[in-house]
Amino acid sequence: MNTRRIGDVQVGSIGLGAMPMSIEGRPDETRSLATLHAALDAGVTLIDTADAYHAGADEVGHNETLIARALASHDRGGDVLVATKGGHLRPGDGSWTLDGSPGHLKRACEASLRRLGVEAIGLYQFHRPDPRVPYADSVGAVRELLDEGKIRMAGISNADPEQIRQADEILGGRLVSVQNQFSPAFRSSEPELLLCGELGIAFLPYSPFGGIARAGELASQHVAFARIARAHGVSAHQVCLAWMLARSPVVVPIPGASRPESVRDSVQAADLVLSAGEIAELDAA
Ligand SMILES: NC(=O)c1ccc[n+]([C@@H]2O[C@H](COP(=O)([O-])OP(=O)(O)OC[C@H]3O[C@@H](n4cnc5c(N)ncnc54)[C@H](OP(=O)(O)O)[C@@H]3O)[C@@H](O)[C@H]2O)c1
Repeated sequence: MNTRRIGDVQVGSIGLGAMPMSIEGRPDETRSLATLHAALDAGVTLIDTADAYHAGADEVGHNETLIARALASHDRGGDVLVATKGGHLRPGDGSWTLDGSPGHLKRACEASLRRLGVEAIGLYQFHRPDPRVPYADSVGAVRELLDEGKIRMAGISNADPEQIRQADEILGGRLVSVQNQFSPAFRSSEPELLLCGELGIAFLPYSPFGGIARAGELASQHVAFARIARAHGVSAHQVCLAWMLARSPVVVPIPGASRPESVRDSVQAADLVLSAGEIAELDAA
């Protein structure tokens, strides 16, 4: 697979979002482990997770634990950059709540370290701004984790351009990634994508197919993607990811999956070359 950089780490240009394997509707563990192993077999070296990727209130970190198990039981487990997050909570009723307080982020990071079984987390991302906590305080906690060596690299998620600049300043120029929603249907993170390109910060588009519930409708809802997919004899999902990769060299999509087939299909986007005309058509679609 072609590679891209996140900070000082080279990763395959298509990552894996592991959320569908832990939230409501998740598959059984055997299928989840097979999906994670299929990703490693296919050369995926970036796996995105979060302590909040779980369903019941009593299973915080379900996804991190699953990933740790999958990596420990595969030859290439050591090659993977695990990108986790803190700052979201799931009370168990299907909702998502926030706690961006420094105290919570510090405790959450310690718990993620234990679940992942590592001395330092590869990439720790502040999940989402908490309106009750000054952004500088939340990012300040991440800076302390970085300075203490508990995390190797720092990222943010669901951030606007001002927050990206502010976070990079607070982190002393050490912000390596921004993870925002970006898909054919949801393009309003374009300014953040462009800013990341300018600053040389990795941009990780999340829910690239429109999210778990909508991923199956990609071809029917976006005819230009479907038409170009037919011309290349590939899935609309591959075209979607190849289009994102073509947007900027800092883009590293993290498509979610809960089936090995999905992963195997998505990673092929790394080698799919779209013409300038096709990219322009998809930009305009
Ligand atoms: N930072 C944040 O606030 C935030 C928010 C949401 C998500 N995320 C991250 O972003 C990741 C991706 O987003 P997402 O999982 O919400 O949505 P998504 O990537 O848009 O869609 C995921 C779904 O796409 C299907 N899929 C994957 N590859 C496919 C292919 N090649 N062909 C057909 N279907 C395919 C999968 O189906 P199967 O399940 O059947 O394999 C999966 O359930 C998450 O897993 C998570 O790591 C972050």
